[in-house]
Amino acid sequence: MHQALPPAAAIGGPAVALGGVTLFFISKYIKDQQKKSSSLPLPPEVPGLPVIGNLLELKEKKPYKTFTKWAEKYGPIYSMRAGSNAMVVLNSNDVAKEAMVTKYSSISTRKLSNALKILTCDKSIVAMSDYDEFYKTAKGHLLTSTLGPNAQKLHRVHRDVMINNVCNQFRAHANTNPSVAVNFRNIFESQLFGLSLKEAIGEDVESIYVEELGITLSGQEIFQILVMDPMEGAIDVDWRDFFPYLKWIPNQAFEIRIEQMYYRRQAVMKALIDKQKKRIASGKNIKCYLDHLLSEADTLSEQQILMLLWEAIIESADTTLVTVEWAMLELSKDPNRQNRLLSEIQNVCGSDKVTEEKLCHLPYLAGVFHETLRKHSPVAIVPLRYVHEEAQLGGYSIPQGTEIAINIYGCNMDPNVWDRPEEWKPERFVGGKEGTLELHKTLAFGGGKRVCAGAMQAMLISCIAIARLVQQFEWRLGEGEETNVDTVGLTTRKLHPLLTIINPRGEEF
Ligand code: HEM
Repeated sequence: MHQALPPAAAIGGPAVALGGVTLFFISKYIKDQQKKSSSLPLPPEVPGLPVIGNLLELKEKKPYKTFTKWAEKYGPIYSMRAGSNAMVVLNSNDVAKEAMVTKYSSISTRKLSNALKILTCDKSIVAMSDYDEFYKTAKGHLLTSTLGPNAQKLHRVHRDVMINNVCNQFRAHANTNPSVAVNFRNIFESQLFGLSLKEAIGEDVESIYVEELGITLSGQEIFQILVMDPMEGAIDVDWRDFFPYLKWIPNQAFEIRIEQMYYRRQAVMKALIDKQKKRIASGKNIKCYLDHLLSEADTLSEQQILMLLWEAIIESADTTLVTVEWAMLELSKDPNRQNRLLSEIQNVCGSDKVTEEKLCHLPYLAGVFHETLRKHSPVAIVPLRYVHEEAQLGGYSIPQGTEIAINIYGCNMDPNVWDRPEEWKPERFVGGKEGTLELHKTLAFGGGKRVCAGAMQAMLISCIAIARLVQQFEWRLGEGEETNVDTVGLTTRKLHPLLTIINPRGEEF
């Protein structure tokens, strides 16, 4: 779950009508009190309307882009209002790092939207939990069994199978339909999902009977229920998010939608887990997250195990696809850079397939990866945090109770740091130390204690996939694809799957 900000799209009439004047006086009183308690000034404020604040300016737009535009006028740190919620937005590396590293202890609490509260069972997953005992224990399990360096070594075999399958499917397409554009996502997404299931429950499942739903679901349907629906739900609008004092007003359509997603997700996860429990009961253990969590069953409830497993599945299956799809789009429209990458691969690997061992000798490939993360930041805004005790950031006082939005996209597009930030130029990352694999050349994975736990896996899969696909095929954009760059809702996921024409470079792979 990497989704961040609930959209401002559907601001209901009742919210605007109620409580406006009272709210104005209350918020003025709080501000006066806060000013008295700190000698530092408050951050500059983006002017907004009474009651709804800046919601209209965020309506139907990409909030990360609007935030970035506001930074040009108000500076790297400013405040705004999403309905009655005071929010401070951070748009530069310095101030974002200050929040994530030095001042973490004052802003370690998560602020979840109503949709996320339901979907995450009120913070029962690592990425959305507060910094508490549950978080520390659960993160330990995730790193030990799945995402840490030793676990990633164990799962190497799954990554190799996945990349071979991806390449074979592209080759099969090129052999049968050489002039027809291939839907990149169809192939990559289902293989990535297969890998996430193997790591989580030990098996890529082709179909499963779900007793609670009374049906047998295909792999594609399981993917829809475990990954696509909740991702859509995570950015669903409940206008009460922006007006918590109106939470007593029902929003039935929203509640039914999210509850249904929750119910189906629970039912499918239970069916998957029950099947694996039978395997374990028959004496067959596999090195996967489920087997590890069940061995810790005295400290975790069944519901906690279900949620942690689901987290590993959804987080593996989304952001890595977003990264590789944008990288292949950028390479497909830029034959010179594609050739430069190919030459590097040929110089280092000759006619052998690229393997993970070779990654640290491929600096241009690393540049392609980091530049794609920079320009298309798969997590554009860090899941919102909440200031639980007054803090100081960037020379300003941040009152207790403020929400904090760290705009990673804004940091990665800051013209004071990046020359011509709107251009995709992997060269800007080339020239580092040969033989090292740095993960954090941008803020794409966040930072500090809550830095992305899956960064290593994301890097290994993305880099090997990009390298093998360029080594094996020549890539060109399908017709109309150059301008087909819109994204889904609030996210940076490409709206329409990438369509490319591929030509095999030879028969040797
Ligand atoms: C290119 C791919 C990815 C990007 C750009 C990315 C980015 C991020 C970001 C920005 C955060 C939030 C940091 C914060 O709250 O301060 C995060 C957290 C997290 N990510 Fe990722 N992520 C990626 C892939 C993955 C993968 C593949 C997994 C797991 C399979 C994963 C698991 C997690 C977890 C568990 C957290 C929570 C860490 C914590 O709170 O301690 N991520 N990620």
